[in-house]
Amino acid sequence: MPEKAKILVAVEETRLGERLRHLLNQLGHRVTLLKTSDLALRYLEREPFDALIMSLSLPQHGGFRVLEVCRERHRRMGVIIIGQRGEAEKTVRALEAGAYDSLARPLSLERIRVVLQRLMDRQRLERENRELHRELHDRWGIHNLIGISPAMRRIYDQIVQVAPSKASLLICGESGTGKELVARAVHDISKRSGGPFVAVNCGAFSENLISDELFGHVRGAFTDAASDKPGVFEQADGGTLFLDEVAELALPVQARLLRVLQDHRVQKLGSTKTTAVDLRVIAATHRDLEKLVGQGSFREDLLYRLRVVLVTLPPLRERLEDIPLLVDHFVRRYAAENQRPVRGVTRSLMDALLSYSWPGNIRELENAVQGMVVLCTGDRLTEEDLPRHIKSSFSSPSLDLHVGMTLARIEREAILKTLAFTGGHKRKTAKILGIGLRTLFRRLKEYTGD
Ligand SMILES: Nc1ncnc2c1ncn2[C@@H]1O[C@H](COP(=O)(O)OP(=O)(O)OP(=O)(O)O)[C@@H](O)[C@H]1O
Ligand SMILES: [Mg+2]
Repeated sequence: MPEKAKILVAVEETRLGERLRHLLNQLGHRVTLLKTSDLALRYLEREPFDALIMSLSLPQHGGFRVLEVCRERHRRMGVIIIGQRGEAEKTVRALEAGAYDSLARPLSLERIRVVLQRLMDRQRLERENRELHRELHDRWGIHNLIGISPAMRRIYDQIVQVAPSKASLLICGESGTGKELVARAVHDISKRSGGPFVAVNCGAFSENLISDELFGHVRGAFTDAASDKPGVFEQADGGTLFLDEVAELALPVQARLLRVLQDHRVQKLGSTKTTAVDLRVIAATHRDLEKLVGQGSFREDLLYRLRVVLVTLPPLRERLEDIPLLVDHFVRRYAAENQRPVRGVTRSLMDALLSYSWPGNIRELENAVQGMVVLCTGDRLTEEDLPRHIKSSFSSPSLDLHVGMTLARIEREAILKTLAFTGGHKRKTAKILGIGLRTLFRRLKEYTGD
């Protein structure tokens, strides 16, 4: 939304409408004022607005019908509800259904300014995310990576910086944080993107088998070796070799790997010849390699060879602002794939998803959304659809506090855990915490960046 926004105001009371127009003009915004839901719908069809401010009791079809159309066809526009006396329940329901925020009467210029500013900030963030993705897509084809948190932006920068070089890359991060996706992105935008991308899971083979897999063998090297077999180093020649779970390699295999990385030549098992290979190695692990070096189970010199550049993927629970984007992405993908009518999730479900700790990170989130979409018959996922193990995790009401957390972090932990404990019930949550419902809404919106 530009600093001067185009705002549609739909309220039935003339005096209220005029007052809103006056306040909004004072803030420099452009206002179109009308009194019925039919007119509102017609205007929305005709031209784009940055925000719609309306009362829920509009004549004809009422505000909820307008809200529904906005959620379907004008997703980027913010809808702000004018709360009427005695309509608190209805207002909360509208917020649940996707309205951006509400304004209580009597109207205050300051409150309107704050709400619109926050909406503009959110719209700017969304626009930036779209632009960032278009740019990443157009220039480098990194279209599979979702996320706009500062941590993810740093990862994009690193990918773009390291891709053109041949430097080895070590990607660390918990399970399911996207290590393989990042490796592929680096390959896709590198000069070697025309060459092969070969991935091998070092943890999936025994010591002998992984040597054979990595370096290959010649005919007769061992009893069953009926013909020559190239290893993945040769298969990935001219491209990228992704060594997943690299910490699982046994020490003798580590020694051979180090030699190949130093000499850029491989020797097949049973052969006296070596073959030159030209490729980039990207290794990944969820383990702490420094610690394994200390324990003597990982070679220090190999660690240095692999970790010319280090990319550390943060766990999902440390980048909450990415959760709504990821949820949206997975809902769309799996609804299309399974031909389901699901279009989004309720606010309460989103709050529950934000308060869960995601030990399996994005893979767990993706699986959860996929499962919910497949089983859902309505057009929105609700808390009822949550997988059982996530629901039951909410019944343990302990807070994860430690010295070194900021007060804001502690507050967030208290709010999200209490919300999870009440099963997403905002009124109960606010009561337990001793804060107002509005404060709770405000905080929840801050956490999701909208
Ligand atoms: N930033 C992201 N945006 C969209 N999807 C993601 C993102 N990160 C991960 N995913 C998805 O999550 C799943 C797990 O990602 P990936 O396999 O890359 O993780 P990993 O770190 O290699 O996990 P593991 O250590 O368990 O092998 C994949 O389906 C991937 O597409
Ligand atoms: Mg992986």
